Amino acid sequence: MPVSRRPVSLGAERAKRDTSEKTGSKEKLTAGFPATRMRRNRRTGWSRRLVAENSLSCDDLIWPIFLCDGENVRMPIESMPGVERLSVDLAVAAAKEAVELNIPAMALFPHTDPGLRDETGSQAFNRDNLVCRAMRAIKAEVPELGIICDVALDPYTSHGHDGLLTGETIDNDRTLDALVRQSLVQVEAGADIIAPSDMMDGRVGAIRAALEEAGRKDTQIMSYAAKYASAFYGPFRDATGSAAALKGDKRTYQMDPANSDEALREVELDIAEGADMIMVKPGMPYLDIVARVKRSFAMPTFVYQVSGEYAMLMAAARNGWLDGDKIMFESLIAFKRAGADGILTYFAPRAARLLAQER
Ligand code: PBG
Repeated sequence: MPVSRRPVSLGAERAKRDTSEKTGSKEKLTAGFPATRMRRNRRTGWSRRLVAENSLSCDDLIWPIFLCDGENVRMPIESMPGVERLSVDLAVAAAKEAVELNIPAMALFPHTDPGLRDETGSQAFNRDNLVCRAMRAIKAEVPELGIICDVALDPYTSHGHDGLLTGETIDNDRTLDALVRQSLVQVEAGADIIAPSDMMDGRVGAIRAALEEAGRKDTQIMSYAAKYASAFYGPFRDATGSAAALKGDKRTYQMDPANSDEALREVELDIAEGADMIMVKPGMPYLDIVARVKRSFAMPTFVYQVSGEYAMLMAAARNGWLDGDKIMFESLIAFKRAGADGILTYFAPRAARLLAQER
């Protein structure tokens, strides 16, 4: 007779136990409690370590930093306690620190002088813009650190949108050309991973084709594949200066938080178009999306614990309402449990420092 591999249903086991209790049968010893006591494996520290299903290491961390003009400048960001915009020289120092902390990669975001923003985001194509200068400087001194560079026009547009406006509409196809140009400029400045965060249709394919044509066949693309129109980006927009610029909202290109099947379609398309890695964003309120995406595609899957999540946890910790270190690690392991291979998080250096101390 073939062995049945049907999973044991808890309900059925309970029903069996109920009747066996009535009949006085010994069967109950093999069906659940007390034969099974879940707490046995949790009793000691060493045992908890042995049975842990997931773990967090420095290898999982990507450190996003903000850039500003000047030299030896640190500009605090009020809504992100502990995070500062850094001038290029200090960004290089942070890159060295990342390597010392065994963090594999950094993601760079510029705060653009408001005077340099314009309707078409022309700074995006300037080879000497802030993010390009920072990448060159970091690559010159810390070549072993992976550099991820966002592709989207919002740091550079006067209206704060990720794409180009035709009338009142974000013009998808016109924006694609701009994103391709931006990508090539950034790759030339040293970006290892191009990370389109703009949510235009077809941008991964357009960028991939342009990279091939330019002989940049090894440049990786990490697409912000399932990126939601989220209020959790508020502090980031303060940090990059986009909050003041932004007119309206991004709901015609970023996803509706009500949707989940749609995320799978977005991811599927980006993979087909040539993405090497995909990302879900924000993180904690979207763990279901991370889990579905990882399970459906088995791709290198990343999650962005965004600025608003960081702000929330920091605010509570600073008020003494939550334990900062504990809540940080709990939030990070939750991403691993959901299936993320890596996490973009402003906690990266703090987590890496504590992880190093643990050993
Ligand atoms: C730019 C971009 C945003 C974030 C990453 N890239 C903001 C936005 O789309 O408005 C958010 C990151 C964060 O909140 O930490 N397109």
